[in-house]
Amino acid sequence: MTTTLDHVLRVQNVTKRFELDSGSVVALDNISLDVQPGEFVSIVGASGCGKSTLLRLIMGLESCTAGNIELGEINISKPSVDRGMVFQESRLLPWKTVTENIAFGIPKSHHKKEHNAIVQQHVELVGLQGFEQALPHQLSGGMQQRVSIARALVGRPDVLLLDEPFGALDALTRIQMQQEVLRIWQRERKTMILVTHDIDEAIYLGDRVIVMSERPGTIRNVIQITLARPRDRSSSEFMSYRREIFQEFFGEQKKTFVFEI
Ligand SMILES: Nc1ncnc2c1ncn2[C@@H]1O[C@H](COP(=O)(O)OP(=O)(O)OP(=O)(O)O)[C@@H](O)[C@H]1O
Ligand SMILES: [Mg+2]
Repeated sequence: MTTTLDHVLRVQNVTKRFELDSGSVVALDNISLDVQPGEFVSIVGASGCGKSTLLRLIMGLESCTAGNIELGEINISKPSVDRGMVFQESRLLPWKTVTENIAFGIPKSHHKKEHNAIVQQHVELVGLQGFEQALPHQLSGGMQQRVSIARALVGRPDVLLLDEPFGALDALTRIQMQQEVLRIWQRERKTMILVTHDIDEAIYLGDRVIVMSERPGTIRNVIQITLARPRDRSSSEFMSYRREIFQEFFGEQKKTFVFEI
């Protein structure tokens, strides 16, 4: 019998080097990270520090140059239904409807009736009832990302990887989508790993915020967020986390700047 303990995600001493004609690029340097089942981990770091590379390795889309990644007892070497990923751009098939795009994430072995019921459950999970037959171009950016989230969840993964999923959305839609992800996480209790440039988003959602160094990416600090959810972004505790993470990036000298804006 499998227990939830089997689904700990273990990133162990992972280095990733890309070989180019002009030389090699070390994207990640000896990263180790354990993520517990049902945990929400946010990752922040400068552009190019290897955040997407880390998610792509966890997804099994790339292989590690050194080290290894395990989910439970399984060594990750290729994509599988136990992991789902949402990308910055929605990556929907433009000629397929909402339902068809979501159905794309389910293994073909399901019976038709069961298949349709699972798809409909996921349409409802992301609040897209009434839009089942819409094509992607008939949806707003936020709605398209809801479809992407449903498609990533429909195969019932243990781990959902979110790579700056709301980067292209306006500030208000983004906040609304953060609330949606929180609701889905609280309901589904999946392990979630969110890469974001938005420090507030990282604090609002994460049990922990992983702060990465510039390339080659290493883990610079791990900040445990102990605030109860839903979190109040204007509370002094929230501000204090924000200050701590800003200081990780910009150092003491930028403290005045942070509080004068
Ligand atoms: N397929 C690839 N081939 C060669 N180099 C790559 C490849 N993918 C990523 N890199 C390099 O690895 C480094 C890390 O890239 P990555 O996309 O992981 O950064 P990131 O932290 O996600 O950046 P951003 O915040 O801008 O999305 C970069 O220097 C990038 O050029
Ligand atoms: Mg990236």
